Formats: sequence, structure tokens, C-alpha cells
Amino acid sequence: MTFQELILQGIPSELPPQYNYPQDANRAPKRKDILNKEEKQLAIRNALRYFPKQWHEILAPEFAQELNDFGRIYMYRFKPTYKMYARGIEEYPARTVHAAAIMLMIQNNLDPAVAQHPEELITYGGNGAVFQNWAQYLLTMQYLATMTDEQTLHMYSGHPMGLFPSSKNAPRVIVTNGMMIPNYSKPDDWEKFNALGVTQYGQMTAGSFMYIGPQGIVHGTTITVMNAFRKKLPKGETPEGKIFLTAGLGGMSGAQPKAGNIAGCITIAAEVNKKAAKKRHEQGWVDVLVDNLNDLVLRVKTAQENKEVVSIAYIGNVVDIWERFYEEDIFIHVGSDQTSLHIPWTGGYYPVGISYEESNRLIREEPEIFKEKVQESLRRHAEAINKHAERGTYFFDYGNAFLLEASRAGADVMADNNIDFKYPSYVQDILGPMCFDYGFGPFRWVCTSGKPEDLDKTDEIAMTVLQEIMKHSPEEIQLQMQDNITWIKDAKKNKMVVGSQARILYADAEGRAKIAEAFNNAVAAGQIGPVVLGRDHHDVSGTDSPYRETSNIYDGSKFTADMAIHNVIGDSFRGATWVSIHNGGGVGWGEVMNGGFGMVLDGTPEAEAKLKNMLFFDVNNGIARRSWARNDEALFAIKREMERTPNLSVTMPNLVEDDLLENLF
Ligand SMILES: NC(=O)c1ccc[n+]([C@@H]2O[C@H](COP(=O)([O-])OP(=O)(O)OC[C@H]3O[C@@H](n4cnc5c(N)ncnc54)[C@H](O)[C@@H]3O)[C@@H](O)[C@H]2O)c1
Repeated sequence: MTFQELILQGIPSELPPQYNYPQDANRAPKRKDILNKEEKQLAIRNALRYFPKQWHEILAPEFAQELNDFGRIYMYRFKPTYKMYARGIEEYPARTVHAAAIMLMIQNNLDPAVAQHPEELITYGGNGAVFQNWAQYLLTMQYLATMTDEQTLHMYSGHPMGLFPSSKNAPRVIVTNGMMIPNYSKPDDWEKFNALGVTQYGQMTAGSFMYIGPQGIVHGTTITVMNAFRKKLPKGETPEGKIFLTAGLGGMSGAQPKAGNIAGCITIAAEVNKKAAKKRHEQGWVDVLVDNLNDLVLRVKTAQENKEVVSIAYIGNVVDIWERFYEEDIFIHVGSDQTSLHIPWTGGYYPVGISYEESNRLIREEPEIFKEKVQESLRRHAEAINKHAERGTYFFDYGNAFLLEASRAGADVMADNNIDFKYPSYVQDILGPMCFDYGFGPFRWVCTSGKPEDLDKTDEIAMTVLQEIMKHSPEEIQLQMQDNITWIKDAKKNKMVVGSQARILYADAEGRAKIAEAFNNAVAAGQIGPVVLGRDHHDVSGTDSPYRETSNIYDGSKFTADMAIHNVIGDSFRGATWVSIHNGGGVGWGEVMNGGFGMVLDGTPEAEAKLKNMLFFDVNNGIARRSWARNDEALFAIKREMERTPNLSVTMPNLVEDDLLENLF
């Protein structure tokens, strides 16, 4: 059968042979064995409802085995035999170009070159699922291949509930992932209901088919590091010859040295896992490997003298560097940490003074002692950072729960009021006020032709549009504009494309809409094939997450999720091709609501009207909320927008004098 025929048949009419997964596959970790006997039976009953009765006798024990072995039922037998990758859009069987584009994005998110655990349909983050099982994949692709542009596919956590009549202007797909009744949103609820096959963890972009590989994290980290130096350095001074010290060369943290190089500083990233450090070195993501402190000190001093732009991986514990650099009087301009402190007891953070191997033994055999060692290490870690901060180091928390866990360990990281931390999070100090509050966020696109030439053309178009806008931009946003022009100029050189021909940059509402309009014109003129627009959910309006994206909201509303919900509903009737809303992004199940969209630019006037209407709301919804929370930058941005757009009328806050409140209670 051809690829097209295989897609169109959905669940095959004959039972496929048992599947032998490749030996070298990077398999998802075995999940918790959380179901009791009755619940396990229910999980099997749930799984079998995808298949005809005559297969049940064969499949029931097979699925029970999967549940026992892996804690989940992935239905490996139904994994398609064709190669999984984003094909050119014309290769997909479809009655509408919009559905074909969605199929392309789904396959990209399951491509083994892109996805972390492709056999288990996990794209990234260890748990970021596109589907729960292969039956859902097969059915969804079949629905997309047959749907018209007067139907909408409704997807419940990977399960395609079905095609419903709608209209041309409606989204083609509505995705929800992990939507729970709030009382059932604890981490173990995910384990249980995911094992039952009724919900999934969509992470941020995986469950909305919008992950594009490591480019997104490199760009986001670059913007953060550049702006951190700006906070620290006097105006006009560059990061040249200045030090950025951090830890972690893992999945996401591995982007730090590459970002540091683009920002133009000396990056030192400690990594206790030799293999992880070597992998990043071999991939060219970090320039130099050093495995002892004496060599590190010498290498750093040379780099400072020569004002080198260089990234150095130190194989060892980051606490040792903080302490040694203090003794050596090496000044650290910017410091952070990206160890996995959201999972401190299972290998997310390795304690100082104990070898990597010994730590792993303690985790398995003496977890209580390991916990004590982690907490001891965090206290030492914080003490060393505090000493550097007294000398003037700018330290920020990188959304990895460093300050939270350090505080729980009794480290000296609390501010005088004993409520806040001594140090800001990267969103409180950097991304919030410098980007999100002005509407700058991670706008991305995919060229559906799959041709690198198309990506080159879109890079050029985006750069020209940004340069044009920058000529008239107010001073407040000039730096953001310039950073992104520089990024897009060098984007090809940084060789970040994995899987589909995709690009990311940060732009505000005006930038996003103007770039999109220019793309749509280029599609109409036949210069490029259709383009899919989207974004990371880690953005101005898409995500309510009190310790990350909305951590710089200070009116008490950061624990609400109205913004994300309004965003997804608002986008859906303003022209999105698909929308998605998820419980649980990078910070955990029950800790965040995040929404996203996909929009296909097919060169039509309808696409132009939709992009203008939807992108405007997609950004300004969040700016309005941020301005209502009294954030200065958002107040500036929304006032400016109201002057330009007579149809926009946002409720503005009246500011209260501090004195007035002082003696009230
Ligand atoms: N704010 C953001 O935008 C953002 C982005 C990505 C990741 N994060 C957070 O950053 C953390 C890291 O993510 P990841 O995907 O890289 O995780 P990861 O587990 O793949 O990598 C963390 C690395 O830190 C190393 N490490 C642990 N303790 C160490 C120590 N004391 N000294 C030196 N190295 C040590 C580990 O060996 C590991 O390789 C997570 O908590 C994640 O949620 C935040």
C-alpha cells in the first residue's frame, strides 16, 4: 500500500503483525504502576474499544503485558510501517490544505529526529505526548485526510472524538490536553488517568503539534542571556569578556552555551554527567571541555584577557565552581542554574562532594540520605551565590525551582519580608518586563513545502519587515527589535533546523501580523508554498503559570487561568486553523494552563483577514491583562495600541498612592 492509502485506511482492516521496536530506540521511562486490578481491567476495556471484537482475544493479553511492562498501553503493534517525518504538504492525502498542514505538523512531532521517545509518541520533556497510543494517531490521520473545510475535528487528550459539522471560518481542529476537574489535578492523578487511557500530558507544544526541535529553546535562552547582561551592565557596554556561570547540559539546559556564544560572552556550564557534557561537545553546542578546577580557572582567565567569546563545559559540580571562583576573586557578571530541581530527589540535582556514580547509588539504595545531601548542597550552593552577589553578581532563577528547593532546604535565599526570594526569576526580571509586557513572544513558522529555499525566503521577508518596523519603533522596544533582526540574520548560520523547515523569533503584535501578511502575499505570488504559523505557549497571553510565565503579575491574579482560557476561545473564532489548551507544561501537572494555535497561510484573502484579526487578539489579550495588573511596560504597550486601533477599548487601572494604604489595617 502507498503512504496515502495507509493514511486513508486508519485502523487497518487486518491485524498487523506484532511489533519489534528497534533496539536503539530511546524509550520512555517505565511509568508508575498505579492502577488496582479493577482499574487495570478498565484500562484494557478502554484500549480495546478502538478495535473490532474478533481481535480482542489476541490484543487483551498483549495490552495487559504493555501495561505491566511500561505502565501504559501504547499499542505498539499499530505503529505504522512508513517512515515518520514531515513530508512536503502535497504528499498528504487531504481534501483541504489546512488538514494536510496539520498532518505534516503531527508527523514532524513524531519524527525520531525531533521526538524524544518516538515509540511512545512522546515529543519532549519526558512526558509531552502527541497521542496516548497508536490507534489515536491512525484515526486522527484518517479523519484529517477525509475532512472537508466545513467540519471540525474535536480531540480529547489525543483521542479524536470525531468530525462535527462547522463552517469554513471555524478551526479545523480543537485540541484539549489534560483538562481535569481541578480537584483531580495532582501529579498522581495524571499517572492514574493517563494509565486508564483517558487523559494525557501535552506539555506545551507537543500536544498541539507545534514543537520544532531545539531551535526554540536556543532562541529563548539567547534572549534571556542577552537581556540579563543588559540588566547588569552599564548602557553601551557589551558582554565581551564577561562571565555567565550556570549548570546543566541536559535536554533544555544544553542550549545555554550556544546561547551564550550568540550573546557574545564567556559561558561556563557545569555538568556532573560526563556523557551529557561530551554529547553537547560533539554536537558543537559547547566549545571546550574541562574536567578539573585548576584548568578551568586558567582557561577562564585566558578567555577574559583575550576577551574571547567561548563556552566551556566543566565536568563536575557547579557548587565547586561558585566556591573556587570566590577564592580566586573571579568576578561572575551573570549567574543562573538549570539543574532539574523540579525533580530534586531522583537525579535532577547532584549534591556537591559526592561522585556522580555514588549519588546514583544513593538515589536507588539510600534515598533519605540522598535527600539530606541534596539539601546540604543547596545550602552551600546558595551561600556561595550570596557571597558573589555581595560583590555584584546578577543571579536569576531560570524556572527550574532552584530558589524554591533551596528555600525548602533552609538556604539563605529569602528576602527581608520572608515572603519573596532574594533573587528574581527570569520572567520577573527579564522576559516579563522586557518582552511579554510589550507583547514580544516566540512566534514561529514552518514552510510546508519542506524546501530549505522557502525557509531562506521567509527569513529574508521577516528581516525586511522587522527592519521596516524598527525605523518607527519607540525607544522602549528598539533593543528587542534589534536582537531579533540580528537573530534572523544569523539564523541560517546557526544551523538549528531539525525536522521541518521551521524558524522562530520574538515579535510583538505588529511584528507578528506584518510578517504573517508578507508571508501570505509571498504564498499568493507563488514565491513559496503555504506556511504554518504558530508559537510556543511560553508567551505573552497563552500561558497562566504563577512561577513562570505569569510570575511578574503582582495583583494576586497569577493563580488564575482566565487569560489562557480567553486566549484559546478568542483565537478559535478569530481565524486559527487549530487551537489547543493544556494542563501542565514545563512546570508540572496542575501548575499551569497553556494554550496555543496553528494557522495556515494559504495565500488567500481569507487567510489575510484571519491573521490580522487573530494575531492582534492573541498578543493584546495578554498585554491587556498585564496592564490591568499595573505592569508599567504593559500599560505603555496597551495605551499605544489603543491609539493605533480605535476599535480596541481596554479597561485601565487607576493607580493608588502607597501612603493611603499604610495605616488602613
Ligand atoms: N525557564 C525556561 O525557559 C526553562 C527552559 C528549559 C528548562 N527549564 C528548567 O530547567 C531545568 C533543566 O531542564 P533540562 O531539560 O535541561 O533537564 P535535564 O535533566 O536534561 O538537565 C539538567 C542537567 O543538570 C545536571 N546537573 C544536576 N545537578 C548538577 C550539579 N549540581 N552540578 C552540575 N550539573 C548538574 C544533570 O546531570 C543534567 O544533565 C528543568 O527544571 C526545566 O524545567 C526552564
